[in-house]
Order: sequence, then C-alpha cells, then structure tokens
Amino acid sequence: MAYSEKLLDHFKNPRNVGTLDKNKNSVGTGLVGAPECGDVMRLQIEVDPITKKITEAKFKTFGCGSAIASSSLATEWLKGKTVDEALAIDNMAIVEELALPPVKIHCSVLAEDAIKGAIKDYQAKNGVQTEASIAASH
Ligand code: FES
Repeated sequence: MAYSEKLLDHFKNPRNVGTLDKNKNSVGTGLVGAPECGDVMRLQIEVDPITKKITEAKFKTFGCGSAIASSSLATEWLKGKTVDEALAIDNMAIVEELALPPVKIHCSVLAEDAIKGAIKDYQAKNGVQTEASIAASH
C-alpha cells in the first residue's frame, strides 16, 4: 500500500503530541477508541475565554500510522478556530488531505470523534448547551 508524502510526514514528525491539564475549565478532552482495531486516541483543546478561539491542541494516539497522522493534522487544523468552526471539521476532509486509502478511513473517523469529544467536554464544563442537550432537556 502506498501512503502519501503528507501522511508519512505527519506519522514520522507528528505535531502537537502531548497533554493539556484536563482539570482546567478552558480545556476539553476527547478520548475515543476504534471498535474496528482497538486503537485509542486522546485529543485535547484549550479555548481562550475571551476570543473563544482554540489556542492549543494536543493529542496522544495509541494506534496505527494513519490514526497518528489524522490526529496530528487535526491538531494543526484546530488551532485558531472557534469551537463552531472546529465542529465543522469532518473526517472526509482528513481523508482527502492525507489521501488515506479506503481501509484507513475509520482512522480519520477516530480523529473526528476525538475532536467532537473534546468540544463536548469543553462545552459541558463551561455550561454551553449543545442543540442535542437542549433537545434532551425538553
Ligand atoms: Fe484503526 Fe487506524 S487501523 S485507527
């Protein structure tokens, strides 16, 4: 299987590997696992309370090269975005950017799920109601 240069670059030199303090209110943590393969990804964002933009994003992925590359790319894309903009990141954009082969599409889904998980955690900590939680409370 031939992997793209971009994928190999993110795999060999992953950006933003690390941990943010999950106890901070400004930090949201998403932890997800892929049932297909058992790989696990943790992705964290830090949101500026004034500008509401994501100032920091970190990840740790215990998984395949495509999952590592997907999460590395995701953290690059997250920085500078608002939470709403971040919610719009969809796994197919990652598939396209990294030219992931079909058997590796679920690796990018893991990254999208981790982003959504981190945002949900951040919103829950900061009392932001998502449409889903508003609907559930009625
Ligand atoms: Fe499962 Fe990549 S093989 S996340």
